[in-house]
Amino acid sequence: AIDIAGLRRQTGYVTLDPSFMNTAACYSQITFVDGERGILRYRGIPIEELVRKTMFVEVAYLLVHGELPSEEQRRNFSTMLNLNSMLHEDMRHFFDHFPRGAHPMHILSTMINALAAFYPNVDLKSMEDDIDVSTARLISIVRTMAAFAYKKSIGEPVVYPRHDLSYCANFLNMMFDSPVRPYQIHPEAVRILNILFILHADHEQNCSTTAVRAIGSAQVNLYATISAGISALSGPLHGGANQAVIEMLQMIHADGDVKKFIRLAKDRNNPFRLMGFGHRVYKTYDPRAAIIKKECDAYLERIHYKDPLLDVAREVEEAALTDPYFVERNLYPNVDFYTGILYRALGIPENMFTVMFALARLPGWVAHWKEMIGGETKIVRPRQIYIGKTPAETAGVMESR
Ligand code: ACO
Repeated sequence: AIDIAGLRRQTGYVTLDPSFMNTAACYSQITFVDGERGILRYRGIPIEELVRKTMFVEVAYLLVHGELPSEEQRRNFSTMLNLNSMLHEDMRHFFDHFPRGAHPMHILSTMINALAAFYPNVDLKSMEDDIDVSTARLISIVRTMAAFAYKKSIGEPVVYPRHDLSYCANFLNMMFDSPVRPYQIHPEAVRILNILFILHADHEQNCSTTAVRAIGSAQVNLYATISAGISALSGPLHGGANQAVIEMLQMIHADGDVKKFIRLAKDRNNPFRLMGFGHRVYKTYDPRAAIIKKECDAYLERIHYKDPLLDVAREVEEAALTDPYFVERNLYPNVDFYTGILYRALGIPENMFTVMFALARLPGWVAHWKEMIGGETKIVRPRQIYIGKTPAETAGVMESR
């Protein structure tokens, strides 16, 4: 048993909240989440409206600058994105030296960190002065890096960004255009990608954003800070879940027995969890998942794309939502549950799913970094409660040495 009184004598009074289940670490004006009622707003605007009426680039501007852009601001922002979309030629050679089959998330976090070496005005003061350029560079160049990483992985020549295309259309073109197979950009595919990116753009103090704020609080440069966010996002309990969901649905599809996997997910002695289910904050249906599910059904029908994994996903959802285990614990589909099925329909390979999440989350990370450095934030430095050995327990250990 832990001697609480003794610990208090040694440490003084500190709050113990492992994994920050119930601790607010900052004030923020960026994103509002109501996990009980399933509400998500960016800068006060409900995501449902943003999805209906805006493009991802406008939402990126909204998150970073606090307001939706005017027509002129949008044009200027797009120009900045275009001007900063090219990768330094020397960085392009990096791709030749990653092993074939390397996960694109590992490549991405490394490449982002390396930006500091190529754009060296990265101390906090220069970054603050130059924040619009650094932001535009990050949002734009990550898209180029992601598409280049994919092209390298399939052994095709890279496709350079085009200034005449919107953010999402440009990305799809860089991914899928090739000298032997010219890519036809479909407005509907662009619309779907916009929706997915908008819905992933921010989610207050999630694991990767917390990493960004904690690391940024040491006044680390913006690129290294974002690279840490990307690393945090890659975990299967966070952004990596979208890939893990598809792998799980494939496994269930091959096996054919949905109920067996529901049983496994409920078994506390088995590490298997229903990927894409559950959320630290939402205790009701994730509002992002609700939109994505609707778009998924409609888009697959519209393009006459039959994905057996959609049927499996529906079956899993129905079985879970009528099972007391999931009902009692308020476990509903989260943003990742139907996302991968849409990405598959767009032709995005599974190992790129989490990269897609990273592209979309970039404006959110930058907005939090900007808010943090603009505030009164001190370096993040939690306390601990030491429960290791005491001097009495180690007495004599050093004498025999
Ligand atoms: N399948 C089965 N049981 C689950 C699941 C699940 N997906 N999620 C939670 N539970 C159970 C837990 O075992 C626990 O049960 P217990 O009270 O009997 O011990 C209870 O529900 C509460 O779960 P916690 O793990 O304590 O919840 P926490 O808030 O720590 O974790 C998380 C949230 C990580 C999202 C969790 O629900 C999970 O692992 N889900 C699957 C992975 C996933 O989809 N991640 C993406 C999240 S969204 C995002 O990051 C973009």
